[in-house]
Amino acid sequence: MAIILGIESTAHTFGVGIVKDGKILSNIKKTYTTSTGGIIPVESAKHHDENKEQIYCESLAKAGINEKEIDAIAFSQGPGLAPCLMIGIKFAKKLSEKLEKPIVPVNHCIAHLEIGKITNARDPVMLYVSGANTQIIAYSSGKYRIFGETLDLGAGNFIDTFARFLGIGFPGGPVIQKLAAESRNYIELPYVVKGMDISLSGILTNLKQKFDSKKYSKEDLCYSMQETVFAMLIETAERALAHTGKTELLLGGGVACNLRLQEMCQIMCDERGAKLFCPKNEFLTDNAAMIAFLGETMFNAGIKIPYIRIDELDIKPRQRTDDVEVKWK
Ligand SMILES: Nc1ncnc2c1ncn2[C@@H]1O[C@H](COP(=O)(O)OP(=O)(O)OP(=O)(O)O)[C@@H](O)[C@H]1O
Ligand SMILES: [Mg+2]
Repeated sequence: MAIILGIESTAHTFGVGIVKDGKILSNIKKTYTTSTGGIIPVESAKHHDENKEQIYCESLAKAGINEKEIDAIAFSQGPGLAPCLMIGIKFAKKLSEKLEKPIVPVNHCIAHLEIGKITNARDPVMLYVSGANTQIIAYSSGKYRIFGETLDLGAGNFIDTFARFLGIGFPGGPVIQKLAAESRNYIELPYVVKGMDISLSGILTNLKQKFDSKKYSKEDLCYSMQETVFAMLIETAERALAHTGKTELLLGGGVACNLRLQEMCQIMCDERGAKLFCPKNEFLTDNAAMIAFLGETMFNAGIKIPYIRIDELDIKPRQRTDDVEVKWK
């Protein structure tokens, strides 16, 4: 019986979530957005700093617990934007000292994957498509192995940069999905799959050239972008399913909120007799419930830093999914 508080602060979102025995009691978050242009890391960090206390209090109130009941504090250690990560670790350390409770350092990407357990997926291939990351992952012999990934941009960052050309603010994905739904006119774009990896920067340049030429509508470009890039993702995910012999596909990361991507994944899974699992949107985009959720699993496996040793802890802005030894499985 443990109550774990999770803190998320890797990029645009500051969140505090509370989990008790695998049940999510609260998942409160606030996201830094812009009307034009992308994320400015120090501005996003300022946003987190200004909102952290209020989000913490709201999360405790929603969960209906007193802070003294918390058994451990889990936080997103990396990867992420250093100024944003710093706000999270400082807040975690402050709470750890005040409450005299241990800290559980959590890898943000693996939290995006492990929260998939709430959908009852058992041993899936995971298509993790977020802002900075795009990877096809499956668990094997003690680690989350990366079967394929983007060679340059994460799909979300690619979509957000494309959105910036179109004059849409951050995040661009939801608006692009709406524009794409208004077209059925496919314009050919480069299709770049290299073995199990994909590459997006050439497609971005091509889209920018097409947009600047003023010959194509925004709707047609958004539609064609989605059809092309999602087909690339699904091709590599399908190959990973075939290669591993696994029969479950689990979606994770903010881009997986996209309904057309979900629909295309469903078609692929139906055609090969696999099952698709997709958590609710609040657990796909950055959130702190997933940090608390994996934090609880790690805590139960004895992975924790006592509050008297928290000086040893630092952020890991560039930590990779396959660096982490999965000692809790
Ligand atoms: N409906 C949608 N269609 C496409 N993209 C979407 C949609 N909704 C959100 N996104 C994209 O999801 C991204 C944010 O996802 P998430 O919060 O998981 O990413 P992140 O934390 O920035 O990245 P990472 O997990 O790699 O650190 C943004 O790039 C946003 O444009
Ligand atoms: Mg994320």
